[in-house]
Amino acid sequence: MTTVFKRPAVVPITELEQSAFCTTETLRTKTLEEEFRAGVRWQKVPIRYLKLSPEEIDEGIAAAREALQKQVVVLGHHYQRPDVIKYADFRGDSYKLSQMAARERDSKFIVFCGVHFMAETADILTAPDQVVILPNLAAGCSMADMAQTEDVEESWNELSSVLGGPEEVLPVTYMNSTAAIKALCGRNGGIVCTSSNATKLMDWAFERSQRILFIPDQHLGRNTGLKLGIPLEDMVVWSPFEPLGGHTPDRLRRARIILWEGHCSVHTRFSVKQIEEARTRYPDVSILVHPECTMDVVQQADHVGSTEYIAKMVREAPAGSKWAIGTEINLVNRLAEENPDKTVFCLDPIVCPCATMYRVHPAYLLWVLEGLMAGLVINRIKIEDDVAGEARIALNRMLEIAG
Ligand code: 13P
Ligand code: SF4
Repeated sequence: MTTVFKRPAVVPITELEQSAFCTTETLRTKTLEEEFRAGVRWQKVPIRYLKLSPEEIDEGIAAAREALQKQVVVLGHHYQRPDVIKYADFRGDSYKLSQMAARERDSKFIVFCGVHFMAETADILTAPDQVVILPNLAAGCSMADMAQTEDVEESWNELSSVLGGPEEVLPVTYMNSTAAIKALCGRNGGIVCTSSNATKLMDWAFERSQRILFIPDQHLGRNTGLKLGIPLEDMVVWSPFEPLGGHTPDRLRRARIILWEGHCSVHTRFSVKQIEEARTRYPDVSILVHPECTMDVVQQADHVGSTEYIAKMVREAPAGSKWAIGTEINLVNRLAEENPDKTVFCLDPIVCPCATMYRVHPAYLLWVLEGLMAGLVINRIKIEDDVAGEARIALNRMLEIAG
């Protein structure tokens, strides 16, 4: 009997939500109650927080920070909305924030304004007596959701039974993945990478193995492979919905990189047409994109790098320079605001925030901070010890090698 594997036909809820907030105007924080009207499925909060105006939330957060002092440190990813990032003690890309979590020992509570996998990583890297809090538990990552732990474990078993041990294939996971996938990498000689160190770490993996299974972003994996000189015909896309990822054993043996079939719905919106339009508008514009963009966009861009790289590049650019940026809109808008002497704009004229990063509305931040004031820990992210132990091996390899 032949087994038929069916692809799920549903549009992920995060992608529906993303279009709910797409606009050609400036994004402005409203009360949580008003934002809920877009039909989103965010974590429920006590009713009081639904009605608070942005000004009332501001006052509440300022009072809570004053009362809690150094007991709390707030970390913020670059994609957080302005009404949240302004409270971050430290901002950064996934790599910088993971380094901070590994070094920060002064505060008992780490409130992570970012998404779930980032808070998980912070929990794994902080001391056992530190507590990591994610203000809205629904703040996941649609790309990370494309690699379900069980699917990755099954695929890994299938793949290694065809290819063999660590000299034949190593797992490399992007930070945007579950703690359990990081643990799989830890126990199989693999590593975690971020967009700021993927080239160095893929190189590290190739010094140890013939092939890499790269999870979950096919675009980052492909762009990085090309940068290392690996031709496209030596890469295959692994579909978790088909036996052996949709390939014959022979095709897999001929591959150097096996790319998990995942993508970021924010970064795959950017196109070569948008780059051409930006260049027509401003012939001297520099195109700066994130490596989660598709290969054709990355190849047409002038500069490619992580969110921290993008921010640094614009900050250090000469006055009068022009930048068309292919990354999440909250970061692009902030860079435009903080660099009034430069022209900074988003490649995509229709503004779509990352739907999951956007779920951290400031009312959630106030809720968890007021909880701490009342001696209550709300939304703790805690990874079980055995998973955390193995995931830490893969994360520490990254921190040691990437420096
Ligand atoms: P950075 O590590 O560049 O911040 O990227 C994280 C991310 O999720 C980009 O979509
Ligand atoms: Fe995930 Fe894309 Fe949002 Fe980054 S921008 S957190 S990869 S959905």
